[in-house]
Amino acid sequence: MLLKGKKLLVTGVLTQQSIAFKVAERALEEGAEVILTSFGRPMSLTQRAARRLTPAPEVLELDVSQPAHFTALHDTLKAKWGRVDGVLHSVAFSPEDALGGRFLTAPWESVSKAFQISTFSMKELAASLAPLMTDGGSFVTVDFDNGTQAWPLYDWMGVCKAALVATVRYLARDLGPKKIRVNAVAAGPIATIAAKGIPGFKHLEDKWGRQAPLGWSAKDGNCADAVARTICVLLSDWMPQTTGEVIHVDGGYHAVGAEPVPNTDEGAALPTA
Ligand SMILES: NC(=O)c1ccc[n+]([C@@H]2O[C@H](COP(=O)([O-])OP(=O)(O)OC[C@H]3O[C@@H](n4cnc5c(N)ncnc54)[C@H](O)[C@@H]3O)[C@@H](O)[C@H]2O)c1
Repeated sequence: MLLKGKKLLVTGVLTQQSIAFKVAERALEEGAEVILTSFGRPMSLTQRAARRLTPAPEVLELDVSQPAHFTALHDTLKAKWGRVDGVLHSVAFSPEDALGGRFLTAPWESVSKAFQISTFSMKELAASLAPLMTDGGSFVTVDFDNGTQAWPLYDWMGVCKAALVATVRYLARDLGPKKIRVNAVAAGPIATIAAKGIPGFKHLEDKWGRQAPLGWSAKDGNCADAVARTICVLLSDWMPQTTGEVIHVDGGYHAVGAEPVPNTDEGAALPTA
């Protein structure tokens, strides 16, 4: 079993569609002990989703905009487990006026909120829980690839994601000497509550399916499961020398510049033996 004996904290489970839910599900199957976090009003939804997992994990309070919650989380996990082996950061939020083609008008209050919840929270999580990784460990976050390009309508979330990947590299630099790895998985579009909040998601989802060499469907459980399985490998001992990295789980979309064009030249068909 890939994660036998690992003690994993998983943030970001809202519904059974959440990327974090799929990770928790796979991690439990692979022998991990799992604790979830949630906050405020979404807490009851998270608890409902948790009951669908076997065994149903405990859900601790963590609103990433509340510094005191990180201290309490550290103390609770220390008392419960004594150590932590892996942490999934799967949290993002942006006020509506920082998305949807409003890049030039978004006010700082909304941008700073998006940054605090979607980016700075990764640093907060790492700073509070790295001291519990006494035998090394692994932090993983979930990116939507903004390293080299701007997307339609994603606006300040795109800037937050680019900064999230920079945060991964700086954390990898500072935590590497303690044998703690920090990586990101850049996922293709998955139909979740967060995705519903991205204007134009449907357009992107369709385009992804046409362009990705391996194919992609936001509603296909296999694509979400591929993201979850890759995250589980990063949380395991099987990538011990990989840190500061972004691994794409997107059907190969990022590797090609455009959708395939219809092949009009029969001579260019696949070679035959
Ligand atoms: N769905 C996609 O297409 C996609 C693609 C690439 C990356 N991602 C990223 O994956 C991550 C998980 O998103 P998802 O798609 O599973 O959606 P989701 O809506 O299921 O998860 C988002 C989570 O963020 C949590 N959250 C928001 N504000 C918070 C706060 N103040 N404190 C604590 N938690 C808070 C929500 O409760 C929820 O659990 C996000 O970082 C998202 O940007 C999603």
